[in-house]
Amino acid sequence: MGNATLTETWRRSVLLLAWALAMAVPLTTLADDNASAQVLNRVVQEAYQKFKGVKDGATADYIPELAKVPGDLFGVAIVTAGGEVYTAGDVNYAFTIQSISKPFTAALVMQEYGSADVILEKIGVEPTGMKFNALLATQVVKGVSVNPLVNSGAIASVSLVKAKTPAERFGKIQGFYEQLTGEKLSVIEDVYKSEAATNQRNRAHGYILFVSDRIYSDPMEAVDVYTRQCSIGITAKQLAVMGATLANGGVNPVTRARVLDAKYVPKVLAIMMTAGFYDESGLWAYTAGLPAKTGVGGGIVAVVPGKMAIVGFSPRVNDAGNSVRAMKAIEFISNELGVNIFGSGR
Ligand code: DON
Repeated sequence: MGNATLTETWRRSVLLLAWALAMAVPLTTLADDNASAQVLNRVVQEAYQKFKGVKDGATADYIPELAKVPGDLFGVAIVTAGGEVYTAGDVNYAFTIQSISKPFTAALVMQEYGSADVILEKIGVEPTGMKFNALLATQVVKGVSVNPLVNSGAIASVSLVKAKTPAERFGKIQGFYEQLTGEKLSVIEDVYKSEAATNQRNRAHGYILFVSDRIYSDPMEAVDVYTRQCSIGITAKQLAVMGATLANGGVNPVTRARVLDAKYVPKVLAIMMTAGFYDESGLWAYTAGLPAKTGVGGGIVAVVPGKMAIVGFSPRVNDAGNSVRAMKAIEFISNELGVNIFGSGR
């Protein structure tokens, strides 16, 4: 065998070994080392390319101002528990956080009261299997407002934030979100005004809670602070930092500040897993297998505990109020990375 043939055999063996090693390393561990950068960047870009042409769903119009948001916007972002950022598309466009705010305010309440049980006892943690604003769910379950991720429970969460005035209550909520993102945030006033003028259903939730002693401040005041909370502007990149703070046990991976005591993180994620998609929560657990929260503004944040947050933003939502392309992008990434919390199935 000549020298040239020997060298070629060597070259092939080394390549084969490198390939075998690459295949043997589970993708789930890649998020922690340098090799992850390429993989994470690839899945973000692929998810963006794969779904950018999808037109299904429609921008929400029950809040009139939301119907004006350009439906073609689409962004995908990952922020890891180590603070690395991977993005594609419209990740710097500020959209309203809407219901994605709900688990974060519940987390603030847990922390303020020094116990997650305040949510369990005063609101509840059971999924409703109904739409996010179903009055029926609030009427049927008498003892509690069901869970903090449907509108009634979220309004009750807001009412639990300790404050003497609505301005103080809202300031605490906004301040908490600013610690979670590590950036200044502001209300998108046109959306706030638009929702405040059309939120009769949420006011009905407030009064139902009031007559059954399930709201803990003036009900209309709570509804108004809740409406402002939902109108806070957030970008996909900022949202991914919020989610990554949960993935990182309550420490913001970018600012390195502890925002939430670690003991509340599993409680928040459990509620996101069972109720984050309302009447589609079962389907989401089945397809993507990640605790996540959606908002009718088009954002979705999913958390891979200990590893990363995956965010999709696209304003066109389905009948359940969940963003069609964001769901597809996150589900794709979850499956590509094999980070489904129930196991990768590989
Ligand atoms: O209260 C509402 O109806 C809105 N501010 C929030 C609803 C929402 O985001 C539903 N989620 N996907």
